[in-house]
Amino acid sequence: MSDLTPFYVTTPIYYVNDHPHVGHAYTTLAADTLARWRALLGHPTYSLTGTDEHGQKIEQAARRAGVTPQEHADRYSAPFRALLATLGAAPDDFIRTTEERHKEVVRAMWRRMEEAGDVYLSHYEGWYSVSDEAYFTEEELVDGKAPTGSEVTWMKEEGYFFRLSRYGARLLAHIEAHPTFIMPQSRANEIKRFIEQGLQDISISRSTFRWGIPVPDHDPHVIYVWVDALTNYISALGGPSAERYERFWPYAWHIIGKDILRFHAVYWPCFLMSAGLPLPERIFAHGWWTVEGEKMSKSKGNAVDPTAAVAAVGADAFRYFLLREVAFGADGDFSQSALLARVNNELGNDYGNLLNRALNMLAKYRGGVAPAPARPGGSGWGAAEGALHDAFVAARADLCAAMEELRFHDALRAIWSLVGAGNKYVGDSAPWVIARRGAEGAADLDRALYTLCEALRVVGVWTLPFLPTKAVALLDALGAPPEARTWESASAWGGLPAGAQAAPAAVLFPRVEGPLALTRAPAPAPVPAPALGAAPAAPPAPAPKPLIEYEDFAKVSLRVAVVLAAEPHPNAERLLTLTLDAGEERPRTVCAGIAAAYAPADLVGRRVALVSNLAPRKLRGVMSEGMLLAAGEGAAARLVEVPAGLPAGAEIK
Ligand code: MSP
Repeated sequence: MSDLTPFYVTTPIYYVNDHPHVGHAYTTLAADTLARWRALLGHPTYSLTGTDEHGQKIEQAARRAGVTPQEHADRYSAPFRALLATLGAAPDDFIRTTEERHKEVVRAMWRRMEEAGDVYLSHYEGWYSVSDEAYFTEEELVDGKAPTGSEVTWMKEEGYFFRLSRYGARLLAHIEAHPTFIMPQSRANEIKRFIEQGLQDISISRSTFRWGIPVPDHDPHVIYVWVDALTNYISALGGPSAERYERFWPYAWHIIGKDILRFHAVYWPCFLMSAGLPLPERIFAHGWWTVEGEKMSKSKGNAVDPTAAVAAVGADAFRYFLLREVAFGADGDFSQSALLARVNNELGNDYGNLLNRALNMLAKYRGGVAPAPARPGGSGWGAAEGALHDAFVAARADLCAAMEELRFHDALRAIWSLVGAGNKYVGDSAPWVIARRGAEGAADLDRALYTLCEALRVVGVWTLPFLPTKAVALLDALGAPPEARTWESASAWGGLPAGAQAAPAAVLFPRVEGPLALTRAPAPAPVPAPALGAAPAAPPAPAPKPLIEYEDFAKVSLRVAVVLAAEPHPNAERLLTLTLDAGEERPRTVCAGIAAAYAPADLVGRRVALVSNLAPRKLRGVMSEGMLLAAGEGAAARLVEVPAGLPAGAEIK
């Protein structure tokens, strides 16, 4: 096990009232890059994202759509989860606040705060904004609206309060003692000024709506959505005293947008102090994106759709652009011209060219086989090699410093300084000139080719967190073995082993031409539930199922089977009875609900995926010994098919 400190990185959990847009993708990709970076360094790493599903605005949105709040949450949470694969982000967990594992920890958190004497019943009056889920004082209103521009109404309610006022001094002292607790520094100053003005107790329950976690022993009050939501950061670890919590808390870095800084940098630490739990290590607030100079808004329909952006330029290029274009912490503008320029120049030309030139020359002069390592000070090591090596040493230091402070754009700049130095080295060393010297120049040519390939390898390893797919493609093309893909191996010069065999590389970043379609097609709101008796609407997206452990999955035995015979089921119109060869002594019989989709004769000879260890079950009088994998319903059902060449009985895993 690694002796480096554990690392835990989180994104905000996204409200289930919107489709994912570039702002959401931004935090997700930044957190994913950090997780990959720390994992590359060797830290035990855990990363979390998810959806925030309670509160009045979700309840209202569900009512408008004519569905239950849970159905609404299911429909809107699924796209956030699906987006992860599209983006190439791979968090360890996806938490939903409607999951029982979360609710349990929220209740425990409430009790801890109550036991600390920090929760009391009182009355509250003020201007309430449903959209912000927060009260505002008269002085805070701007032209009769919340500072965010949302509508407010005068509300009076009995509710539970949290003694935030008790924790101001302690929090301030913590911020002073931990200069990187809130970043960037300007945000820390903003929070300090806010605390210095004096913290007021806050209302932490609501009784005017139902969609939330009931206050323990005090139903009809529900727990304020921010107490609920913030607790996700520990509920996903199993809550205090769980093994994962013990391992990863408080090594947490919360990556958030600047709009939710106060909740994270004031409320959350105070809740934790009250509950007797340690504070996270860092809270980093990033800036906001505009699109072509304009604020993103639903009415303008100008929000950049991450799925469209990935379709246009690829997941790695989209990530690269977001992290390279603006300093993390500052606001930025998403413009097509800037996106195209970065993708075509920095990725296509600079990064792609380094790969192509190195591999083309290696193929031409050495049959694609890496020569023996050329190391600093070794025979023939000259000024050109020295300059490239200096660039490597400087870039490595800059990269590490930048990542420690979440300066992604500087980290990428540092890596690209090595890319630039590598491309320059091609001209400086001019392998094609050395090649003309024939056998006499062989050692010099080896050195030049090795040095170039080594720079390429280091660039490949360093970009693993930023271009997770393309960096692997680069290292594959170079033929770098696993031990030459580690951070350690890329920290010293000479890690590419002699004899590594390169393969011809596909173009990593093909040129992209505009204009690109980057916004969501004006999508209809999710289909409202049909009124009773009405024709059924399109089926809702399936509710995501909770994550399972590998051990759970491993219990399922999936096998290739070949259909030997198929006939209608004697007693059920919906079913076909299939005889399958699953590579066993005797054929199996399986009943499948695909009669509306397939004629029996069409099935004979097909290779299908069989769940082979499902307990046998009698279906309308016929014993069915397993189940076939399929998608879709009724006439639209389709069997999952297995490519030819795999024998009956082969395990699918
Ligand atoms: N549910 C809360 C967070 C609870 S965390 C315990 C929430 N959700 S949100 O869906 O409205 O926003 C999620 C994140 O998206 C926030 O960090 C917010 O800053 C970010 N962004 C929303 N629009 C954005 C841009 N235009 N640009 C960059 N990020 C933006 O708040």
